[in-house]
Amino acid sequence: MNKALKFWNERRIQLKENLEQNRLPCCVAIPESKFIENVGGIIRTANAFLIKEIVLDHGVYNKAATAGTAKWENIEITQDVFGYVKEQGYKSVALEQHPRSVPIWDFEFPDNTAIFIGHEVHGMNDEMVEKCDYVIEIPQFGLVESLNVATATSIALYEYSRQHRK
Ligand SMILES: C[S@@+](CC[C@H](N)C(=O)[O-])C[C@H]1O[C@@H](n2cnc3c(N)ncnc32)[C@H](O)[C@@H]1O
Repeated sequence: MNKALKFWNERRIQLKENLEQNRLPCCVAIPESKFIENVGGIIRTANAFLIKEIVLDHGVYNKAATAGTAKWENIEITQDVFGYVKEQGYKSVALEQHPRSVPIWDFEFPDNTAIFIGHEVHGMNDEMVEKCDYVIEIPQFGLVESLNVATATSIALYEYSRQHRK
């Protein structure tokens, strides 16, 4: 291996190690997703707040929307997103508009949280929501009934980060 390549490989390893040390004990869990742009945007946000991992039902996402962050992130692809989250010992929090939801501003995120988000069109079904330990929602006041899924994820990760990065 030539010197320059060796230097950049070492730098990359060092940078990744630094990121790993600063990650929050939190993951975004995506059991169903439709639009690859949204998944890309969520990976970018996950990098901004430096969470532990993103757990996905499939590995297809829009690379441009990730702004080059995907190679630095821990992306777990599994058919059984709920099973993986349980196995890792996360507390599961459904981010969903649901009769059981509490407003995000009244919620204290536990350590080691998995934030579950729903499908862009039909959201999370009741069966999925019932599998989660907590259900939270972002209060809205305007005409639209829901937020874009990547936007909602950004707000939730911001709040997790605000509470846990003190
Ligand atoms: C566009 S919404 C799904 C559609 C919506 N549930 C419906 O049936 O009209 C996509 C996902 O974004 C998240 N989401 C959007 N707005 C939200 C809010 N105000 N509070 C919590 N989650 C929200 C949820 O995870 C939801 O499943």
